[in-house]
Amino acid sequence: MHAIGIDIGGTKIAGALVDEDGNIVKHLREPTPAGDSAALENIVVDMINALSDGTDAVAAGVAAAGFIDATQSIVYYAPNIQWRHEPFREKLEARVEVPVIIENDANAAGWAEYRFGAGKLTTDMVMLTIGTGVGGAVVANGRLFRGGFGAGAELGHMRVVPNGLPCGCGANGCIEQYGSGRALQRYANTLADAGGIGQALADVRSKNGGYLHGADIGDLIDKDDPGALQALRQLGDWLGQAAASFAAVLDPQLFVFGGGVAAAGEKLLAPIRQAFLQTLPARGYHPEPEFRIAELVNDAGVVGAADVARTKASEQRP
Ligand code: BGC
Ligand code: NA
Ligand code: ZN
Repeated sequence: MHAIGIDIGGTKIAGALVDEDGNIVKHLREPTPAGDSAALENIVVDMINALSDGTDAVAAGVAAAGFIDATQSIVYYAPNIQWRHEPFREKLEARVEVPVIIENDANAAGWAEYRFGAGKLTTDMVMLTIGTGVGGAVVANGRLFRGGFGAGAELGHMRVVPNGLPCGCGANGCIEQYGSGRALQRYANTLADAGGIGQALADVRSKNGGYLHGADIGDLIDKDDPGALQALRQLGDWLGQAAASFAAVLDPQLFVFGGGVAAAGEKLLAPIRQAFLQTLPARGYHPEPEFRIAELVNDAGVVGAADVARTKASEQRP
């Protein structure tokens, strides 16, 4: 039995036909149309139809970066997209042949890691996706945690600074403003302004007309540039402290880190672990969870969305 997974990202929309073991049988990809929700809807519809045509696909799961309702139909709010109370499921189901569910993008990625990737051997796992925003997924006792209204596990919007930086969610001081890819760019820009260890960052920034791209910071991290590594340590420090608070609430055996910034691998995990151990409540006595990088990388969203949709479709069968 196959299911379809769609992952709507900031730059691309990925679609896949996925089997029960999380293997991708067919893959599609299109650039995300900027600021045009009708065009975006058309792409998602075309992808679902192309992937279901002539196959045994039983359902489609669509991963989106926002607060989703308990029936997995409506995007209540998307901090970094213009969706406000968007009835996306209804719109899609009117135009495709399979049942649709909407899933939070980080939930989808976390579920995929739990079922088929880094989290396979755990029962309780927390995933953080570090990209434009900070996404969260909570697997508690083998189940994806959704909360009472469906919009739980928005771990990126935990407040870490009273009256801190304004966040796209409308609140202030969320970890998303201190632990995201955008925050990494901010740290790197500050280091570039100061010169010294930030000189290589300053050089690549001026080569790009004054803009410091995430990919350029990533290249410098790969080369062990001291400025880029310092920016990454600042990011890891925030994330490790946040993880300690999440551990106090959720007590997972494993934290998984995904998203673009996770390409830094152990260089990201090391400062996270260090800050975590310094901040963990009952430290020294509380068992230490593991910290790992996501294994499914770019496929986690489509694989997880498909698996959630398939599970839901089979539950509803008499
Ligand atoms: C959104 C989440 C999303 C995350 C990663 C956050 O700003 O609130 O819904 O999972 O970004 O895309
Ligand atoms: Na989530
Ligand atoms: Zn927020």
